[in-house]
Amino acid sequence: MKIIAANWKMNHSFDECDEWLDGFFEGYAKNINQFQDKNIVVCPPHILLDYIDSELMEDSMKHLDAVMKKQDRKLEDFSEEELNEIILGSRPIKLGGQDCHDKKSGSYTGSVSADMLAKVGCEYVILGHSERREGCFETSEVVSRKIAAALEAKLTPIICVGESKEIREKKEHLAFIEKQIEETLAQNSGFEKLVIAYEPIWAIGTGLVPTDEEIAQVANLVKKLFETKYNDIAKEHYLLYGGSVKESNSKSIMAINNIDGLLVGGASLKAGEFLNICLS
Ligand code: PGA
Repeated sequence: MKIIAANWKMNHSFDECDEWLDGFFEGYAKNINQFQDKNIVVCPPHILLDYIDSELMEDSMKHLDAVMKKQDRKLEDFSEEELNEIILGSRPIKLGGQDCHDKKSGSYTGSVSADMLAKVGCEYVILGHSERREGCFETSEVVSRKIAAALEAKLTPIICVGESKEIREKKEHLAFIEKQIEETLAQNSGFEKLVIAYEPIWAIGTGLVPTDEEIAQVANLVKKLFETKYNDIAKEHYLLYGGSVKESNSKSIMAINNIDGLLVGGASLKAGEFLNICLS
């Protein structure tokens, strides 16, 4: 299974979102076979989540109806967990939040809890993005607590790590990434899917992309950590690459050994371009 995630960041109105969904599903329907082994995750701004969830619900309910008929069961015969699995499992795209708070509820103005994301159909949440680490002063310790909250709400966190230009120039990136992973995973276990996104800060939104060899070097390190240090804490392990992914480079990045998917920012805003990336 590959994971291709779209991080819309603070972009798209309701109208633009509608246009995106129409465009994406048109292409999806034409290429449905090529999506069988892929989880497509869309992470819009929080205010669009409920809207997209309800747009997806019509087909989800049709699917639930079909399952009920096939199994000759009534709605009340299904547990909440079963219903969630049937409804969310059938969706062509998965929903994800771009962040969540580490607390369940309370006086945290402007924040959204992991439970709240789950209630509007999210299955994923991006955590520890460098734009939050830098812009909102989030430490790895905070990210670690958010991961715990996400796991409790049964969300799959997409955990972002990656070095600055200065750290890469000093050739300290591998040690830096290993430490970031260690700090963010601290005391967290019981992952269905452990998803790490390697996003070098200097590649995000800049058009600069590490060479395939440079990505492979980090991928080898993370895979080694998955196999040694973090084997027991997750059933499945995934490493995504993010940072200036486009139609023109997605295919070669996806072909790098140990890369299991992509986290796409700017190029995910246009349905057609994102679709082509998903098909690469
Ligand atoms: P970008 O962003 O694709 O626009 O570089 C990636 C990200 O920040 O997740």
